[in-house]
Amino acid sequence: MEKNKVKIGVIAGSVRKESFCKKTARAVASFLSEHFECRPLEIGNLAMYNQDYDDEQRVPPEWRAFRNDIKSLDGFLFVTPEYNRSFSPVLKNALDIASRPWGQNLWSGKPAALAGVSTGKFGASGACAHLRQTMGFLNLFPMQQPEVYIGEAASLFDGGGNLTNQGTRQFLADFASAFAAWVERINR
Ligand code: FNR
Repeated sequence: MEKNKVKIGVIAGSVRKESFCKKTARAVASFLSEHFECRPLEIGNLAMYNQDYDDEQRVPPEWRAFRNDIKSLDGFLFVTPEYNRSFSPVLKNALDIASRPWGQNLWSGKPAALAGVSTGKFGASGACAHLRQTMGFLNLFPMQQPEVYIGEAASLFDGGGNLTNQGTRQFLADFASAFAAWVERINR
């Protein structure tokens, strides 16, 4: 990674190959890359959180690598699907892993932005509400506005996974600019 450039971790809360969250995260990262070095983070390979691994010093290597990544990054973009009116378990697992062992919460004090993506009409607003609650406890600093709820996601991308809807592109470009200002303000 380039030295001295602010580094943003990009986390999609779906591991599905054709995930609309991943496609949306890519689109937002392309706008953010004007301001930051963006690094997509893999979370599908993380074993489910089990406190025994920490207590018995047998931390899985993937957890160790993920924790080191979180420590080295300056802020985060989360793009979450909605699963039964909450955010996805794979995202919760990633948040949990970097919040422990107790007293070593690696998210603390870092700026963040979140976006919800759904194939339904409501754009994962329920998922985002729950995610904001967890972010509060983790002492992440999520940008409050603009809120991003991308509904009917299947209609917004072409066959190559590119975001082709112009209105959504502009909205996400504005979201990325607002996040750039937010990161600067928090890290000042
Ligand atoms: C969903 N989906 C969904 N959508 C929604 O708007 N509200 C919801 O509560 C749910 N619940 C839900 C539960 C489960 C288990 C699945 C698999 C899906 C639909 C969801 O928005 C859709 O599958 C998205 O495409 C998921 O995001 P990715 O995988 O495309 O990033």
